Amino acid sequence: MSLHTPLIAGNWKMNKTATEGVELAQAVAAAVGIESAVQVVLCPPFTALAAAVAAVEGTHLSIGAQNMHDKTNGAFTGEVSAAMLRDLHVTYVILGHSERRSLFGEDDAFINRKVNAALAASLKPILCVGELLAEREAGTTNAVVKRQLELGLAGVPAAKAEQVIIAYEPVWAIGTGKTATPAMAQEVHAFIRSLLVAQFGAETAARVRILYGGSMKPDNADALLAEHDIDGGLIGGAALEAKGFVDLVRSAARSLSR
Ligand code: 13P
Repeated sequence: MSLHTPLIAGNWKMNKTATEGVELAQAVAAAVGIESAVQVVLCPPFTALAAAVAAVEGTHLSIGAQNMHDKTNGAFTGEVSAAMLRDLHVTYVILGHSERRSLFGEDDAFINRKVNAALAASLKPILCVGELLAEREAGTTNAVVKRQLELGLAGVPAAKAEQVIIAYEPVWAIGTGKTATPAMAQEVHAFIRSLLVAQFGAETAARVRILYGGSMKPDNADALLAEHDIDGGLIGGAALEAKGFVDLVRSAARSLSR
């Protein structure tokens, strides 16, 4: 864990109606809404964003979207723009999640346009990178992560880099119950940090938060968050009920005192 505020984000994926989302957001806010040591971000589906923003008003919790389009407006049926998210007081947006890449055909160039569009609209992008199982087995993890990171961050000025959050999510660990060991995750996180140093310089790179995602749960979070370059988590399954998610926030708070 480095010097900056750790960040725990819940990616609800296609789960929770707006009504259910309010319940979950209120329960999380009641437990950790005044916890200032950890930045907590909830990322509901589009349909629950407005209600979630209202539910966490007055707390330090933030709301993020799970995707957006790179264009500002126009004939893009089914899509939403950065300005539409900002208008709802959404402040983060997950971009390039492996499910967007594999199920919806998003490539690095498209994801890069979204990253720059998000920054232009003062939204904080959470850029996801990570290798498939076959890529890890073939020994190409670093090459894959390097490509996704460098193409994803192309054109991002150093002055805005601190607004970007990177999430390392090994695809084989997502929703599978298989977690990268702390040492495996730290190795890739350190590699990502070195790429950020090369692009933005050491001082800025040290301020970029790099989250781990992939079956992070209360029983493995302490060990992962103890690693030097793991600055928080992007949580899927364990973010869907308040207790487990709150435990993860507490785990991140504990990592600060170690
Ligand atoms: P799980 O925590 O369910 O493995 O999901 C991780 C993820 O994809 C978060 O974006």
